[in-house]
Amino acid sequence: MLEIRNISKTFNAGTPNEVRSLRGVSLTIDEGSVVVVIGTNGSGKSTLLNAVAGTFRPDSGSILLDGREITDWPEHRRARFIGRVFQNPFSGTAPGMTIGENMALAARRGRHGNLGWAVSGSMKQQFEEHVSALRLGLENRLDNDIGNLSGGQRQALTLLMATWKKPRLLLLDEHTAALDPRSAEQVIRLTNEIFARDRVATLMVTHSMSQAVHMGDRLIMMHQGRIVLDVSGAEKKRLRVADLLQKFDDIRRTEQLDSSAADILREAYV
Ligand SMILES: Nc1ncnc2c1ncn2[C@@H]1O[C@H](COP(=O)(O)OP(=O)(O)O)[C@@H](O)[C@H]1O
Ligand SMILES: [Mg+2]
Repeated sequence: MLEIRNISKTFNAGTPNEVRSLRGVSLTIDEGSVVVVIGTNGSGKSTLLNAVAGTFRPDSGSILLDGREITDWPEHRRARFIGRVFQNPFSGTAPGMTIGENMALAARRGRHGNLGWAVSGSMKQQFEEHVSALRLGLENRLDNDIGNLSGGQRQALTLLMATWKKPRLLLLDEHTAALDPRSAEQVIRLTNEIFARDRVATLMVTHSMSQAVHMGDRLIMMHQGRIVLDVSGAEKKRLRVADLLQKFDDIRRTEQLDSSAADILREAYV
C-alpha cells in the first residue's frame, strides 16, 4: 500500500554542513503491516518518516500510496491519509484549548468547510466514549484545558486523535521516548490495541529494543541513511534484544574498520 522507491535526501547540499540523510531508501509496506524502525541517532529514521509525510520533497526517488504517486503532494494533502505522533507530547495537541476542542479538531481532519470547534452534545458523548477507553479518567474532563494533562495523557490522546479517522498510514516517531516508564507502558498498551483493532499500516520508530522485538511484524534498522537490516515473518518473531545489540555492535565494528582503513589510505597518500 506504501511504496518508497529509491529516495534520497541531502540537507545543506554543497555546504560544510552537508548531510546525506537518506541514500537511496526503498521500502514497500503491505496493508496492515506494522514496521518497526530502529537505528543510531542521526541514521535517517525521522527523515524517512518526514519524507513520507511530505515535510519536504526527496531529491530523487518517488513515493506511492495505494498505487498513486504522492511525491509532489504537499504535506496537508497527505495528512488526510496519514496519522502522525511525534516524540514531543506538546506537538500533537493545541495548547490553550480544551480536551474536547482538540478532539473536535481531530474529528474534522480531512473535511472541508467550517473549521469551528464547538463541541456539540452528540459529539461530546462520542468523545467521552473514546476517551474512557483510554482508562485515564479523562472522560469527565473534556472541558479542561489540555495543558493540565501529563505528557503521557497528552500522548495517549494524540494517538487516539491520530487514529480517529482510521488513516491509511500511521507514522509514530519515538512516541514514548519522552515519557516516564509507566506512561510509556500505557501508551504502548494503547498502541497495541490500535494495531489490533485497525490493522493500519504503520511505520513506528523506536529507541526501545524491547518494543522493537515485541511489536510489529517487520523490523528495519537504518544506518547512515540506508536500510541495513530488514527482518519479517518467523525471523522477526524469533528476534531477541541480544540479536539487535549484536547487530549494533557489528555496525560499530565495521565502522571502526572503515575508519582505520581510511587512516591507512590517508597515510599512504601524504
Ligand atoms: N531539516 C534538517 N536540516 C538539516 N539537517 C537535518 C534536517 N533533518 C535532519 N537532518 C540531519 O539528517 C540526519 C538524520 O537525521 P534524522 O533523520 O533526524 O535522524 P534520526 O531520526 O535517525 O535520529 C542527521 O544528521 C540530522 O542532523
Ligand atoms: Mg529521529
